[in-house]
Amino acid sequence: MESRPTARILTYLVLLAFVGFLAIQFVRPAFTNPPVTAELQAPPEVKRVLRNSCYDCHSNQTQLLWFDRIQPAYWLVTKDVEEGRAHLNFSEIAKLPAAQQKGILYEALNQAQLGAMPLPRYTMLHPRARISDEDLAILKNYLHPPAPDPSPDPAIKAAADSQYDQWIHASQASLSVAPAPNGIAYFPGYRDWKVVSTTDRFDNHTLRIIFGNDVAARAISEHKINPWPQGTVFAKAAWTQQVDPDGNTRAGSFIQVEFMVKDSQKYASTGGWGYARWRGVDLKPYGKDAAFTNECVGCHNPVRRNDYVYTFPIGGQE
Ligand code: HEC
Ligand code: HEC
Repeated sequence: MESRPTARILTYLVLLAFVGFLAIQFVRPAFTNPPVTAELQAPPEVKRVLRNSCYDCHSNQTQLLWFDRIQPAYWLVTKDVEEGRAHLNFSEIAKLPAAQQKGILYEALNQAQLGAMPLPRYTMLHPRARISDEDLAILKNYLHPPAPDPSPDPAIKAAADSQYDQWIHASQASLSVAPAPNGIAYFPGYRDWKVVSTTDRFDNHTLRIIFGNDVAARAISEHKINPWPQGTVFAKAAWTQQVDPDGNTRAGSFIQVEFMVKDSQKYASTGGWGYARWRGVDLKPYGKDAAFTNECVGCHNPVRRNDYVYTFPIGGQE
């Protein structure tokens, strides 16, 4: 006797839910595929991976599946597409400067490697979009091609070795180095800072060491690296890369050293970081005027959510 009203209420609720479900099918935000204006230029195998795993949200060639067209999935997916396109659009990327495109691709690989992209909530229902280890290897190989010619000219090699020696032993502190065009002074002591990471990725033929000053080192040990604290300084030193006959990679001639100095107030116009670069063993300041930093900011912008820093410290946050 008592269960009958309960059953009736339940029936009403189910009906109501169904009517609601039908009703929201008609509430559909407009969804379109705008024209492809500046398609990414990349080898076919790279495009295949990106098309398969990323294009549904990061291009003007979104392909919705039948169940994506049913509410509320439709609403959720189209929102992801809208937001995804606003952040990164492979159908329009080619209009950006090449260096910036590279930075974006680098960040794309980073996101995929971290498992952050494609969005896990998406791959749950779209398993074919999952990115496999093979796919990752294809992207990595494209962005970090294999090592260069294994037998460099012995004369070049000897010259490079002596430069590296000079870098290791010379007291560059005694050189009088001119400041960068934006007024940042050279940091002679960076070679004694903590090595945060070494990298030979992204473009080949160079080997890089990234150093962090005391503030950076403390932030790493305390896991307070996003944002990095005021006073953090990074140095990135780059050498040409050589491969000896045994296949070992070693540093060749010194190319440059670059710095990022954290001061949110002083460098507010460039994302809170001051940028500077000195080239060659004679440490010539880079840039005609202070506007050279546009180039740096443009390429570091894709990682603004990591406080503009590309490097994941060794043993730090992963
Ligand atoms: C289901 C939709 C979806 C798919 C599929 C997807 N993304 Fe995203 N992506 C988003 C959204 C939404 C954002 C912005 C919000 C966020 O960062 O979470 C985003 C942000 C990003 C960003 C950050 C861009 C910036 O400037 O901040 C990168 C890089 C990225 N995605 C790369 C990829 C790559 C690479 C793939 C494929 C392997 C991929 N995404 C697949 C939806 C998607
Ligand atoms: C072509 C893109 C690009 C441009 C332009 C660029 N950077 Fe970077 N930068 C990177 C990448 C990628 C890394 C990560 C380390 C690596 O792989 O070499 C990096 C790393 C760094 C680091 C180490 C901290 C970190 O973010 O990992 C410093 C310091 C740095 N860059 C300074 C500069 C300065 C100064 C300029 C401008 C004079 C500049 N960069 C211009 C791409 C760029």
